[in-house]
Amino acid sequence: MTASEQSSRDTLWRMANAYQVSQAIHVAATLGIADLLWDGPRSVDELAAATGSRATALYRLLRALASVGVFAEADGRFSQTSLSEYLRTDAPGSVRAWAMYMGRPYVWSPWAYLGDSVRTGEPVFPALHGTSAWDYRAAHPEEGAIFDAAMTGLSAAAAAAVVRSYDFSRIRVLVDVGGGQGELLAAILAANPAVRGILFDQPHVVAGAGSVLERAGVADRCEVVGGSFFEAVPGGADAYLLKSVVHDWDDARAVEILRGCREAMSDTGRLLLVEGVIQPGNEPDRMKLVDLHMLVMHGGQERTAEDFQRLYAEAGFRLTGIIPTGSPSNIVEGVPA
Ligand SMILES: C[S@@+](CC[C@H](N)C(=O)[O-])C[C@H]1O[C@@H](n2cnc3c(N)ncnc32)[C@H](O)[C@@H]1O
Repeated sequence: MTASEQSSRDTLWRMANAYQVSQAIHVAATLGIADLLWDGPRSVDELAAATGSRATALYRLLRALASVGVFAEADGRFSQTSLSEYLRTDAPGSVRAWAMYMGRPYVWSPWAYLGDSVRTGEPVFPALHGTSAWDYRAAHPEEGAIFDAAMTGLSAAAAAAVVRSYDFSRIRVLVDVGGGQGELLAAILAANPAVRGILFDQPHVVAGAGSVLERAGVADRCEVVGGSFFEAVPGGADAYLLKSVVHDWDDARAVEILRGCREAMSDTGRLLLVEGVIQPGNEPDRMKLVDLHMLVMHGGQERTAEDFQRLYAEAGFRLTGIIPTGSPSNIVEGVPA
């Protein structure tokens, strides 16, 4: 084997084992190791005592993570690195909540059956758990809380880019449909003091929105409404925002959601999807892997510009622009056709 062949083989070998890194990060995130290192390096015995772990096993976990740059070991103590910094709860752009979610057994077990989804085109989750991921989380509030925190973290990381990239000040009332616990809506309202908001999501999800809206100082300008977007969405607003919602659903269900928004808005209303847009070509594109997550979990999908164009037409909209934000999210703007 030439050096170049050896390097290709090693890269593929690492990729084939990548779930080991992913799960090790999940465990470190769940144990809160990075938070414990905020004021400097600590011995594994200290970390084990603080996390209720077996010191020898925790050492093996952290040694493995240090070998890929997450934490560093020196003189028998572990310290933070530029990567593990993002496992701190309050680091700007923190990945902790996301890592805590992605490794949950009910989330990564469907990936064990990705091959089934590839064969059938159907999601694995309902066959494995007997229900949709949404109903599963509604029935398991502790999992719901972990998921909602993960989405809040993701939206917090994207919010500044979205707020910067679109003139929301022209909107009078903005509904965030499937808005989770309101992280993005709160950021938009905070930056646009004349805009009023309506946060709409499932009742058990919006029940936890109060602190997010209050922290942003926008609770007095934001109504919170619980319900299902397959039944009705709040009417009378002039813009309907949906971030990372349509990708959870196949085309038929996505069109149903968008038609509901069309029915709720006036002829001068606006639709704003905040979603990844799959690009052609072979360049690294994280949405192409998120797409597989949507497949196994929900039977949803990430979409190309052409896919969005078709979806909008079927739901009674005309796509007027795809605005990049400099983050993985784009703003896909539409108006009633
Ligand atoms: C991937 S999360 C996105 C949350 C939020 N927009 C964000 O980006 O942080 C999808 C959201 O859709 C909501 N959802 C799922 N089914 C729903 C339904 N039938 N009616 C209303 N919301 C629903 C979930 O509760 C969840 O908050």
